Amino acid sequence: MNKNKISIVILAAGKGSRMKSSKAKVLHTICAKEMLYYIIKASREISDDITVVIAHQKDAVQKAVSNNFNDINFVTQDDINFPGTGGAMKNISIKNEKVLVLNGDMPLITAKALDGFLHSSSDIVMSIFDLPNPDGYGRVIIEDKEVKKIVEQKDASEAELQVTTVNAGIYAFSKSVLDKYIPLLNNNNAQKEYYLTDIVSMARADGLSVSPLLVDEEQFKGVNSKKDLASAEEIMQKRIRTKWMESGVTMQLPSTIYIEEDVTFEGECIVENGCRITGSSKIINSHIKAHSVVEESIVKNSDVGPLAHLRPASMLEDSHVGNFVEVKKSTLKGVKAGHLSYIGDATVDEGTNIGAGVITCNYDGIKKYETIIGKNVFIGSDSQLVAPVTIEDNVMIAAGTTVTSGRVESGALAISRTKLRTIENFYHKFFKK
Ligand code: UD1
Ligand code: CA
Repeated sequence: MNKNKISIVILAAGKGSRMKSSKAKVLHTICAKEMLYYIIKASREISDDITVVIAHQKDAVQKAVSNNFNDINFVTQDDINFPGTGGAMKNISIKNEKVLVLNGDMPLITAKALDGFLHSSSDIVMSIFDLPNPDGYGRVIIEDKEVKKIVEQKDASEAELQVTTVNAGIYAFSKSVLDKYIPLLNNNNAQKEYYLTDIVSMARADGLSVSPLLVDEEQFKGVNSKKDLASAEEIMQKRIRTKWMESGVTMQLPSTIYIEEDVTFEGECIVENGCRITGSSKIINSHIKAHSVVEESIVKNSDVGPLAHLRPASMLEDSHVGNFVEVKKSTLKGVKAGHLSYIGDATVDEGTNIGAGVITCNYDGIKKYETIIGKNVFIGSDSQLVAPVTIEDNVMIAAGTTVTSGRVESGALAISRTKLRTIENFYHKFFKK
């Protein structure tokens, strides 16, 4: 694709009242990335002149964009005097003769789908699709196979509301069309807004050509509500999972697995049903078993779960972490922690076995402290390691021990237990049997 031919303007200045949220609509996330991120990502594949129009929560929107992209232009809409998608297009300056205008609430758009707009010589190309339930979309009125106008739902007559052909919200204009018609838009409508969509009827009245481009709803879906957000996320999840399965990851019941956009896999990986893998986790030659959660962690040559929880900044290498084990901000290298443990703020070295129910007591109510565990340490079940503490190499901790000494030296056994007493015949006396 020739990147230099087209400018792109993304409308992201609206509030998004239908989201019922204090957060600007385009900042709502799908697979942990703002909706706007995906639109810019697709746009960048076909253009190097991208302008994002901002107004509502403009600083937050600008910051979110800048976290991921560094070559985006911003224009602030005068949304008090010129509200609406047409108002958003005032004061835009673009490099190229052709411009694609995209709504900022279409996170499922792909570069391939956008490319379809670049091959028409019409003055305006607009995207349409047919929906059995067109609720919320602008209706496209077509007469004699020509687009006549776009009517917003709130302005539509009973007859127009029955129309199932809708405006998908992406347009290709030639620069001269925008220059001519944007200043002519008015706000004589139900919402008292300047509608970009009114350009269509104005251009048609002047005899310009408007081509409808039939597009696939899956990629052009507008997200207006939390319900739309959830269904867009489902589609995005499917794409992410498909991408990784195509690159060789085995998934069991993929529809039950949630993987965020920045997660990566390498080598032979298996992910079982019900897993959640988030942030920029890296999974390398590993097996993530059923219903485990891996957050912002690195897992290499290891197996995790079922039902394990790796919290952010955990690093596992050549390790086994079993059911009901929680690991946080810890490095485990060649370690086995099979059952029911909490390992937090710890470094654990090769050959060490962590028994069932072992807890690193990393928090004293005020501060967090570290636990360092050396090589070939055997930690018996139900032990507590009160941090800060260092367990040197080749140490045994007896089951049920609470280590409060700060350090256990190499070669030692640490044991803290009350002596076992057995009272003969007690059972029979107590129950009078
Ligand atoms: C818009 C179209 C509608 C189409 C639908 C497709 C208009 C008037 N209507 O309706 O025909 O079917 O998209 O999804 O264009 N925005 C601004 N400034 C504003 C208002 C909105 O930048 O003053 C931005 C929003 O942030 C959003 C985009 O424009 O990203 C679309 O706005 P929205 O309010 O969602 O438009 P719809 O009512 O969905
Ligand atoms: Ca919308």
